[in-house]
Amino acid sequence: MHVAIIMDGNGRWAQRFGWPRLAGHKQGAESVRRAIRHAPCLGIETLTLYAFSSDNWKRPADEVAGLMRLLAHFIEKEVAECRENGVRLQFIGRRDRLPITLVPALERAESDTAAGRRLLVRIALDYSSRDMLLAALRPGMDREELSRTLGPDVDLLIRTGGEKRLSDFLLWECAYAEFFFTPVAWPDFSERDLEAAVNEFRSRERRFGEVLDTSAA
Ligand code: IPE
Ligand code: IPE
Ligand code: MG
Repeated sequence: MHVAIIMDGNGRWAQRFGWPRLAGHKQGAESVRRAIRHAPCLGIETLTLYAFSSDNWKRPADEVAGLMRLLAHFIEKEVAECRENGVRLQFIGRRDRLPITLVPALERAESDTAAGRRLLVRIALDYSSRDMLLAALRPGMDREELSRTLGPDVDLLIRTGGEKRLSDFLLWECAYAEFFFTPVAWPDFSERDLEAAVNEFRSRERRFGEVLDTSAA
């Protein structure tokens, strides 16, 4: 099962307490840790996390810099545990606009965890699905080739923080994804919330355009 999460609501979560937005991002990193630890218990094989969109460059410079620092810190702290637990880390999105010290850290995290088979965690950074599509498309390409280039189809798309939109995330891969929107802000998103989303997903009937129940025909 491939679960993708738009981790939204960090800034508003912090502002509720009168704290700077960055405090929300910091607490959001704890939720990422929780989700990665708990995902294999729920039968999730691939977890794709939206951490920074290409449009997020439009934010104030200090918020962007703080996010990049948090990311570097997160990677430094998490790689060892990921490795021990069979978690493979990959990063999707552009790398040429990221801080130059971050890029080798991403590459190291990917190579250090490359043997992980229990869970694949893909972190989307400077990510735009439209740009990924434009970069991947070749003349004469068919659906399978494009899917192989971009990555696996999403089974369950979760967005926290109350908004109900994709914000340029996994447009092709979500063609038949089930959507789960929750008002819970990402820093508050717990193991139980993840489990509830997966349980709801399992109760849905995915028809992929077919008629499955012909008993009434
Ligand atoms: C999601 O939280 C994290 C990033 C986009 C980096 P936001 O920062 O978008 O939080 P809100 O939506 O403003 O509350
Ligand atoms: C989407 O959230 C990007 C991430 C969660 C990383 P945004 O907060 O940037 O999206 P919009 O602006 O509400 O669409
Ligand atoms: Mg947001």
